[in-house]
Amino acid sequence: MYFIYLYLYKNKKFKTIELIKFKMGLLKILRKIKLKEHQVRLLTLGLDNSGKTTIIKSILGQDPTSTSPTLGFTINTLKYGNNTINFWDIGGQTTIRSYWRNYFEETDGVIWVVDSGDKLRLKDCKEELHNLLKQEKLAGATLIVLCNKQDINGALKVEEIKNLLELESITSRHWMIMPCCGLTGDGLKEGLNWIMDDISSRIFMLE
Ligand code: GTP
Ligand code: MG
Repeated sequence: MYFIYLYLYKNKKFKTIELIKFKMGLLKILRKIKLKEHQVRLLTLGLDNSGKTTIIKSILGQDPTSTSPTLGFTINTLKYGNNTINFWDIGGQTTIRSYWRNYFEETDGVIWVVDSGDKLRLKDCKEELHNLLKQEKLAGATLIVLCNKQDINGALKVEEIKNLLELESITSRHWMIMPCCGLTGDGLKEGLNWIMDDISSRIFMLE
């Protein structure tokens, strides 16, 4: 870069003051790119009671047993290698779902949490997920579906949930489905590693 403006300067394409402005502009752009490179925005969504807050608390090393329904949203930050993850934990109650769209901007990945024991609401869960995936602002976001509450007796298995949610019909984005248990933390590390690897391979290719 130094050589570009040295060349422009030497060839009298720029006066000194313009050169300084040019340099500052470039530095600003570079700083913005750099900042963006290190901030990852993950949205945690799914029906109410599916275990979103429990999962986030578990990932953050907090007590996962003390949650109450999320009425708005909370943001939590986690250092992950060279990156900082911003987890947006948004309430899933029916009345709050219409506000989800306010959080879509600049999302790198969506963690869709499913209550594997809640068979009655899997149809709702499928509809909400497919509605979400139609949103233009989420077009580039990676998707991971976490089949939570695998500790519950009779919980649906990953393969069954994959079929019920018709995940195979999603062809325009990277997605994955994995089992987990928010209360014990089982499967969360694997899920987080997968989504971060996928996002990194898309966004941080220049690093
Ligand atoms: P909203 O904020 O209302 O959208 O709900 P949420 O998805 O954040 O659910 P939350 O994390 O508050 O958990 C709801 C209930 O499910 C709580 O009683 C949790 O203890 C329970 N729960 C969460 N994860 C698990 C799990 O892996 N196993 C079992 N058995 N219970 C869980
Ligand atoms: Mg919650």
